[in-house]
Amino acid sequence: MTKEFDVAKVKAQFPALHQRVYNNQQLVYLDSAASAHKPEVVLRVMDDFQRQDYSNVHRGVHYLSQRATDAFELARQRVAEFIGAKDNEVVFTKSTTEAINLVAHGMAELLEAGDEILLTELEHHANIVPWQLIAKRRGLRIKVVPIHDDGRLDMKAFDALLSPKTRLVACAYVSNVLGTVLPVQEIIERAHSVGAQVLLDASQAVTHRKIDVAALGVDFLAFTGHKLYGPTGIGVLYGRYDRLQELPPYQGGGDMIDRVSFDGSTFKEPPFKFEAGTPAITEAIGLGAAIDWFTNLGIENVAKHEQALLTYAHEALADFGGINFYGKSSEKVSVVSFTLDDVHAGDAASILDKTGVAVRVGQHCAEPLHDRLGVSSTIRASFAAYNERADVDALIAGLKVVRDLFA
Ligand code: ALA
Repeated sequence: MTKEFDVAKVKAQFPALHQRVYNNQQLVYLDSAASAHKPEVVLRVMDDFQRQDYSNVHRGVHYLSQRATDAFELARQRVAEFIGAKDNEVVFTKSTTEAINLVAHGMAELLEAGDEILLTELEHHANIVPWQLIAKRRGLRIKVVPIHDDGRLDMKAFDALLSPKTRLVACAYVSNVLGTVLPVQEIIERAHSVGAQVLLDASQAVTHRKIDVAALGVDFLAFTGHKLYGPTGIGVLYGRYDRLQELPPYQGGGDMIDRVSFDGSTFKEPPFKFEAGTPAITEAIGLGAAIDWFTNLGIENVAKHEQALLTYAHEALADFGGINFYGKSSEKVSVVSFTLDDVHAGDAASILDKTGVAVRVGQHCAEPLHDRLGVSSTIRASFAAYNERADVDALIAGLKVVRDLFA
């Protein structure tokens, strides 16, 4: 059952969005793909935890430590339920980047020279560089699946590049630049048919698509808390339990061990094997609260709202004229990347900022994709649950100021 989606009520819950910036202008935040703001409830839960329940986890027999451990493990359960995983398949990391590095580090031990890793042309650097590091060390080959001009993945090329040598396919669920939703179910099925594992970077997908890791049958999936209306410093690696068991630990230290002696150490079972040291306790609890808040809003409601906003933004920008769009797939969510015919993207974004409109500009940590698009820099407006039509109108008004200045 879908509930009524009242964007004004949603926005009212975000203190940071109700502020004035340059020249006393209302802030218009169109950069949630980089990081989303946090609702009051998330800030309160984290503050309450720090004030009343804070202690280290998994270590103390005392009252506060028990309470902190319960809250931390409850956050893990919330994450697990949110993505259709089992509790012991959820590893807390500090970010998506760390989650991918964790898998890459472990895979380096499991793969052999000549093994192949398949990436795509639209990947974020976080899903390129970790693989390059291990490829160099271990003599692995990286192959790259191209995209079509409209931003869709070229699935014919994918099939041609996939082979029994492919041991891993690592790709985005949603492109952070183009908004393209990749056909992940097909990718997983085809990869599995040659015995390859699949890692999905779901950072940009997790707030726009319902994710069910069990239904997908994916081996690994990574996302971050701060794009999901939660804090920074907390990320999630989902790993199918047997996959996590196969992987060696990423970092050594306290809490991940079973026994330690100077002759050697043994490790706990996943997920704890991958969580060395004191974790980001408050942030994990904040992520749990963000998931509760978001789930209560209803992902279908949010997705419908954002999709309508995306269409409105595309139409408004097309009417404005002189815009080159990047990413025209019909399977697209929540970001519009573009350039102006007559003004450099960097100049335009700086002037937009002076009109109160926050967008991201540059290569958005996707330099190879920009090379493919043949453009050095794009402007990206991204939409979240709290954005409304007035924000798009403000973007257009800001672009008018840009054009008038450069006319
Ligand atoms: N990955 C983030 C973005 O796309 C930072 O902006």
